[in-house]
Amino acid sequence: MAKAKSNTLKLKFDSARNYAPAPESKSAAKINARYDLFINGKFEKPASKKYFATINPATEEKLSEVADANAADVDKAVKAARNAYGKTWKKMPGKERAKYIYRIARMIQERAREFSVIETLDGGKPIRESRDFDVPTAANHFFYYAGWADKLEYAFPNRNAQPLGVAGQIIPWNFPLLMAAWKIAPALATGNTVVLKPAENTPLTALKLADIFQEAELPPGVVNIITGAGATGAAIVNHAGVDKIAFTGSTDVGKIIQKAIAGTGKKATLELGGKAANIIFEDAAIDQAVEGVVNGIFFNQGHVCCAGSRLYVQESVYKEVVRKLKDRLETMIVGDPLDKNTDIGAINSKEQLAIINKYLKIGQAEGAEMYQSSAAIPSKGFFCRPTIFTNVAQSNRIAQEEIFGPVLTIQSFRTDDEVIEKANNTPYGLSAGVWTDKGSKIFNLTTKLRAGVVWANTFNQFDPTSPFGGYKESGYGREGGLHGLYGYVRF
Ligand code: NAI
Ligand code: MG
Repeated sequence: MAKAKSNTLKLKFDSARNYAPAPESKSAAKINARYDLFINGKFEKPASKKYFATINPATEEKLSEVADANAADVDKAVKAARNAYGKTWKKMPGKERAKYIYRIARMIQERAREFSVIETLDGGKPIRESRDFDVPTAANHFFYYAGWADKLEYAFPNRNAQPLGVAGQIIPWNFPLLMAAWKIAPALATGNTVVLKPAENTPLTALKLADIFQEAELPPGVVNIITGAGATGAAIVNHAGVDKIAFTGSTDVGKIIQKAIAGTGKKATLELGGKAANIIFEDAAIDQAVEGVVNGIFFNQGHVCCAGSRLYVQESVYKEVVRKLKDRLETMIVGDPLDKNTDIGAINSKEQLAIINKYLKIGQAEGAEMYQSSAAIPSKGFFCRPTIFTNVAQSNRIAQEEIFGPVLTIQSFRTDDEVIEKANNTPYGLSAGVWTDKGSKIFNLTTKLRAGVVWANTFNQFDPTSPFGGYKESGYGREGGLHGLYGYVRF
């Protein structure tokens, strides 16, 4: 028998950044030079006659231009949705609606590669994330809610749940396709029709979804996709023919929407900002916890409403955790989002990069100590190195305000009560994470942390069957799971 040579497989990794490039091909992405508005099953020119560009934030190159819908366009879309609601969708048996929703899910799967590449080009997120998370999770939401469409009497026994009518849905730029799926799937399953507005920075996957609605022969007007910025969103919110507003975005705009619909009888679900605490106890498996913290704050460049942006570490393991985090930061690859090696892609926009950089200055001025990895970053496009702040005070703005970037604050604590108080000392309450070996500690904290989702020994886990939503200034209403149906029915 041949003697095994022990040293033939010596792999050399001088530094993580020396991997050979592994770019995904752009050829899967068919992007038109211009997109009109998707109203009543067809692409129509906007009454406004205006268009604006959407760019690739990794290269600053223009990808396409999309229509800038005005109030007249919104009115047309709402009328199409109203008409489809009364004439077809509301009357259709649940098991027939389910077939369309199921078909949409299958088509997203079939075109997963195209969706992933477009999502990454338009928004800057690493292809690994759009391919392995955004697109499959979006398809799963349609599959899951297809299952509910003919079972509403089991979801709400003896309550005769009825649809609301026309849902106006406004979504942000951090998970464009996934947020569209979160909004559209439960609305359709419960018999509502939709006017959806994607964010102005990332409209392309929602417009691709319109292609799928056509191919799936979804009845015209059941879903309308309207592009535009804040003014278009406001026109949807203020349209008298809209019965429900579903919004995901900043707390500031959430407050504007709440004021605008007060007294109108419109229903609303608001999924707003966050400043989640991620808590490491001394008995935790430290290496796993460090990985969880990295995933919690650097996933999608930190553009995540439930990002674990405030790390609390028990004093006895504080030094070890900070050292391991700094080592781990050094291995993270920042750069071309289309490269399969990339861990941190492009910041979504110039404006968002300016917000992040403003907070980096604020943090240093407040006396916190900033540490950034030495990763090389491209000279073009919008990029930010992974950043951690130590020596942070609870009252510092970087520990209180949502930065929405790859920036982590770290503080220490001694006792359970102390960390619960610190974790809850925020205007937000969307999510939290707890890392410990003790089940009893997990139960103690999950009952006391004021957050809609608390992950234990993991972070950023999503499943269509599980409800998601916030407390306090993180908004109200739940999306996902059986709870996600409530926002779209009346009794
Ligand atoms: P934004 O809240 O302005 O945008 C979200 C969506 O709302 C977009 O589709 C936008 O066109 C629309 N919109 C804007 N003004 C509106 C209005 N008056 N009425 C109706 N719709 C309106 O968020 P923006 O300005 O892009 O980001 C600013 C900050 O907001 C970020 O730095 C981040 O902290 C936070 N944010 C939080 C999100 C989350 O998921 N929690 C998502 C996006 C932003
Ligand atoms: Mg873009």
